Amino acid sequence: MNDDKVKAAQMAVELIPNQAIVGLGSGSTASIFIDLLAKKAHEEQMDITCVATSVQTSQLALGFGLKVVDIDAVDRIDVTVDGADEVDGNLNGIKGGGAALLFEKIVATNSTKNIWVVDSSKQHQRLGSYRLPVEVVKFGVHHVFNYLKTRDLKPVYRQQEDGNYLTTDSGNYIIDVDITGQEDLPQLAQDLKSLTGVVEHGLFIDICDVLLVGNTGQAIYKDQLSNS
Ligand code: 5RP
Repeated sequence: MNDDKVKAAQMAVELIPNQAIVGLGSGSTASIFIDLLAKKAHEEQMDITCVATSVQTSQLALGFGLKVVDIDAVDRIDVTVDGADEVDGNLNGIKGGGAALLFEKIVATNSTKNIWVVDSSKQHQRLGSYRLPVEVVKFGVHHVFNYLKTRDLKPVYRQQEDGNYLTTDSGNYIIDVDITGQEDLPQLAQDLKSLTGVVEHGLFIDICDVLLVGNTGQAIYKDQLSNS
């Protein structure tokens, strides 16, 4: 599986031009990409500026010698490379397995191009095998939780190993929900987003432009899909 992630990350590095402003995703596949990007930038003396999607990613990139700036220090991100927890045939996906969905979505929606790097285990005809992360502010969180229960979303608080609720980089909680019974995902995305207390959810609809699948070596372009 790791080889597949490496292959996908290698394919992504080839798509990064010199002088690009690059969004760095979070998670194990994005971390491999960051390592490879740093090596290539060093070897080819590329001028690359990076924006990170989590504290962990920022520290990793800085450790590899990449230049990392605050998102508000740039007008636009040229290309973001990130992983995904699940992706369907239309390149819609679920993200947030690493609890970085809020910053990941902010960086992605401010990027000209979004590349996802995955292995084929992440590809599914329909989204829902992976529980959807919902990021919620701490104040009044149980009320949001109870509401999600009434929507038959079977909410579960994400916990750390010590049993405490996991806190995101923004100081919020994550509630993971089951979307297998949900027919209309764009509507669900809208409903979740409009709930007071919900900061963001991990449904990334119409965001990914290019999907790189490590083990098959496939590059799937959103604008070449027959139904797009
Ligand atoms: C983090 C994410 C990750 O991109 C996602 O969890 C995939 O991670 P990995 O590459 O380790 O499988 O959304 O919030």
